[in-house]
Amino acid sequence: SDSPQANIGVVGMAVMGSNLARNLASREGNTVAIFNRSYEKTQTVLDEHPEAGFVPASTYEEFAASLQKPRAAIIMVQAGRGTDAVIDELVKVFEPGDIIVDGGNALFTDTIRREKAVRETGINFVGAGISGGEEGALNGPSIMPGGSDESWVTLGPILKSIAAVAEGEPCVTHVGHDGAGHFVKMIHNGIEYVDMQLIGEAYDLIRRGTGKSPAEIADIFAEWNTGELESYLIEITAEVLRQNDAETGTPLVDVILDAAGAKGTGAWTVQTALDLGIPVSGIAEAVFARSLSSKPAQRAGASSLPGPSTTVSVDDEAAFIEDVRRALYASKIIAYSQGFDAIVAGAEQYGWDIKKGDIAKIWRAGCIIRAQFLNRISDAYEEDSSLVALVLAPYFRDAVEGAQEAWRRVVVHAVQAGIPTPAFSSSLAYYDGIRADRLPAALIQGQRDFFGAHTYKRIDKDGTFHTLWSGDR
Ligand code: NAP
Ligand code: ATR
Repeated sequence: SDSPQANIGVVGMAVMGSNLARNLASREGNTVAIFNRSYEKTQTVLDEHPEAGFVPASTYEEFAASLQKPRAAIIMVQAGRGTDAVIDELVKVFEPGDIIVDGGNALFTDTIRREKAVRETGINFVGAGISGGEEGALNGPSIMPGGSDESWVTLGPILKSIAAVAEGEPCVTHVGHDGAGHFVKMIHNGIEYVDMQLIGEAYDLIRRGTGKSPAEIADIFAEWNTGELESYLIEITAEVLRQNDAETGTPLVDVILDAAGAKGTGAWTVQTALDLGIPVSGIAEAVFARSLSSKPAQRAGASSLPGPSTTVSVDDEAAFIEDVRRALYASKIIAYSQGFDAIVAGAEQYGWDIKKGDIAKIWRAGCIIRAQFLNRISDAYEEDSSLVALVLAPYFRDAVEGAQEAWRRVVVHAVQAGIPTPAFSSSLAYYDGIRADRLPAALIQGQRDFFGAHTYKRIDKDGTFHTLWSGDR
């Protein structure tokens, strides 16, 4: 038969896979083999994109035969069972030295399990987080690959050719071994949740505090997008707020049901951080805020509960809006500081050598949290890779110092006006927590020793102590 023509394959011709395959095919030197469980999708993609020069396969055997060795294939199918089913089939037709990449949204512990199982066959398995949705897959995503060093040699140039580009650098780096890439993608999504929640709270504060219309608030976000808050999420917020409903002519945001959905990656981040003992309180609040919003019966029942008895008004609108902007920036710094703490702890727990500055760099384009701000994070880690907290880097320390009075005023206003700001408030509480000289944890240790003889340590000498409390029997 003919010699194999393709240098890379994609399995899964749904939205993400077909766009990624087209992206690959558009790059010089690539010939892309495509496969989908049911052949109709492959046929549709072939018909719609003759320019791509795809090499279609209708069986896994044909797919393997169309790939040059070492074979490399990216799986973009439904995460979970779909991914396992495809891996089982590919392992049967691939050979030692070949590379299987899972580009779906896998839980990193699944990736660790799969990598271990596939490695036993001599085939390389790479879990790669791919961010940027449909548009990113087609035009350049941010890519977070894990897996072995050996597979990075073959895969690196291919992934670099299709990734988003930020300031001339491709948004892809070998994150670390086995599940490191999917772990970092998970943290990315967690940070995305807080970013969105913080923006939501800022909008709510301004709307209720000043009575401005969504379109007027859109202008405020557009203005913010020219400064230190510049980011994709701030940019699209302005567009969402400016949109009117085609049917009713009212602002679309007032017609959309206020119940936020979730696919679960934010919850994964929080569950993982709980296991690692890292306080990602902002991400947790963002996840819980979505859960709270999605309980209509409870909210309807609770809507009769009383709020503040006096109305709190904003006297200086411009000053208030500037306060909200600063509070948003400070809270965002805390969110990233917490997210990077989780990355550090994950790397330590799982033995990954993750370069924090490089992660910030590959998030500068292609992904949902892309922002100017990420340059500051990579600078901070370049200056001091062993920073004990991102917020302690000189640039962020100064930023928080400049914002903290405004941050406090905003949280006070929210509390007095009865506006829920779980992400603003919890990030301020975290900030005051880590900078505290003494925490009431001393009292908690006393209580634990009292009721359970859990012992405590002292500030003035080494050792472990237990007090014979008068309540002890
Ligand atoms: P999807 O709706 O998650 O999955 C559909 C694809 O999975 C189809 O090709 C389907 O094949 C295949 N599939 C499902 N079960 C299978 C099985 N048991 N064996 C073989 N193939 C199976 O597709 P998607 O939205 O393109 O997403 C793909 C991956 O990218 C997912 O992991 C998703 O989480 C991730 N992702 C999505 C986005 C996004 O914005 N949508 C962004 C980033 C990452 P059939 O046609 O035969 O049913
Ligand atoms: P990205 O890295 O670009 O953020 P993502 O992780 O898939 O890609 O998330 C982008 C958006 O698509 C999120 O709103 C996500 O939902 P969550 O808020 O629950 O994370 C959503 N999303 C993720 N996977 C999806 C899927 N398979 N189908 C539809 N939407 C999905």
